[in-house]
Amino acid sequence: AAAILRWPYPRIVAHRGGGSLAPENTLAAIDTGAALGLKMIEFDAKLSSDDVVFLLHDDTLERTSNGRGAAARKPYADIAALDAGSWYDRRFRGEPMPTLAQVYGRCVTHGLAANIEIKPCPGRETATGQRVAQEAARLWANGSNGTNADAPTPPLPLPLLSSFSFEALAAARDAQPELPRGLLFGAVPSDWRARTDALACVSLHADHRKLDAALVGEIKAAGLFILAYTVNDPERARTLAHWGVDAICTDRIDLIGADFLSSVP
Ligand code: G3P
Ligand code: MG
Repeated sequence: AAAILRWPYPRIVAHRGGGSLAPENTLAAIDTGAALGLKMIEFDAKLSSDDVVFLLHDDTLERTSNGRGAAARKPYADIAALDAGSWYDRRFRGEPMPTLAQVYGRCVTHGLAANIEIKPCPGRETATGQRVAQEAARLWANGSNGTNADAPTPPLPLPLLSSFSFEALAAARDAQPELPRGLLFGAVPSDWRARTDALACVSLHADHRKLDAALVGEIKAAGLFILAYTVNDPERARTLAHWGVDAICTDRIDLIGADFLSSVP
């Protein structure tokens, strides 16, 4: 049987930086979650046309900024000039889509653990997995190698890389095998074990609506940690935790705070 290890991260994870309390995937979102006491964030990372790793969920710019068209066709200098805050609320006007380096800075400031979801634009799977892993390893090594005067105390844990894209996660593994990986699913496919084994994953991330007690038990018995997204009902979060789910990714950081599962073993 696989060794049973304890989930090495905080159990409550703010979805897209600050859940539903701020514009997704921005520094303002991260600050909002940190102000509420959150200790871990999930966010979506992809590449600009000039291979800068930055935060954006969609392939296109319209929904969450005043830009238009495919993000993959724009250099980061153009993306950085866009307003990714006003669509959410005028008080976030001018809030940019940050680089991974800027997000790392916020993780240091607030002492946050990170789940970097690699969200490649179509056709950019391998390049995105590789660049995100290289950049994450470079940034986070700064904070955990014990030789850097700027390193945070205590050191940040290594970021957990996840993706729905097997190809992107395989490229991340090839580039930086030491960074922990989790494979993301909507519904968990019957061959989940072969896929997570092939990528040497530490975790499986699934849509909570597709999980039940038996499936959670099987995944845990295989030695994998489980992160369930996006759980916005406190009662549901408790049920999932009782089944053995290790971490909850939530939009409702106002209802499901950092210590929400502290009483669930
Ligand atoms: O990583 C969990 C969750 O963020 C996956 O879905 O579409 O919100 O990125 P999505
Ligand atoms: Mg995501």
